[in-house]
Amino acid sequence: MKQVVDNAPLQQLDEWDDFVATRYRQDKSEEEFRNYKADANPTVTEFYRQNHARQTLDFVRNKKAEYSGLKRGKKSIWEMAEYLNTLVDDSDPDTDLTQIEHLLQTAEAIRRDGHPRWFILTGFVHDLGKVLCLYGEPQWAVVGDTFPVGCSYSDQVVFPEFFAANPDSQIPEYQTEYGIYEPHCGLDKVHLSFGHDEYIYQATRSYLPEEAQYMLRYHSFYAAHRHGAYRNLMNEHDESMFEWVRKFNPYDLYSKGRERPRTQDILPYYKELVSEFFPDKIDW
Ligand SMILES: [Fe+2]
Ligand SMILES: [Fe+2]
Repeated sequence: MKQVVDNAPLQQLDEWDDFVATRYRQDKSEEEFRNYKADANPTVTEFYRQNHARQTLDFVRNKKAEYSGLKRGKKSIWEMAEYLNTLVDDSDPDTDLTQIEHLLQTAEAIRRDGHPRWFILTGFVHDLGKVLCLYGEPQWAVVGDTFPVGCSYSDQVVFPEFFAANPDSQIPEYQTEYGIYEPHCGLDKVHLSFGHDEYIYQATRSYLPEEAQYMLRYHSFYAAHRHGAYRNLMNEHDESMFEWVRKFNPYDLYSKGRERPRTQDILPYYKELVSEFFPDKIDW
């Protein structure tokens, strides 16, 4: 029991999402922004402490090997969404959105702005990778801002001081500007800290356009898409594709409204949209 508690400082995964949304609140002044630590409650801080200390290059390589083969069985997008919904069962049903509601709100905000159907669908699936938690992965391996491992850490990553506790920080080869990578090698060759982004990217990549793949894979890579860090590793193709990552981000951050989406009314639209791009069941 102790072990479980130690690995789960967040009461729910949404605490991390809420912290990020507060960090980038639209009416924030530059000074308030620089003081983001004031918005982080102790559980969020403890979560980042664990995340930064434990996401090593070795860990990431192992997790990618474990999950990218998609050997966890076949499920439809809908079965996965229902499964994800079981994640939050002890929260207040009156105020907290379910996971499906967050996905629908994100997708609906994209739809309202007249974006293409694949973009709306990307909003709908973007957080399904959080089922990693239901597989027993600790919170620090499911959510959190992502960052490259195997090269020096940018101080544009939140709580950069916590990297001192990461064993990789003692390996000089991993702490140079490029580390194990070549200059501008392209992000596909770079290992990012493991989490729900990588998993949903792997599970859906054969069915969605490349723009969507970038949105899914890098949506938590704030140091790069918000702060322009790690351009030394990106190639020109990444740079142009990151336009889409940036286009997606506000819908993830700011679509969380007070009003619950009218799920029953909009469900038929999403049933049709999902079946336009995905077969009945896909590998997870
Ligand atoms: Fe996410
Ligand atoms: Fe999200």
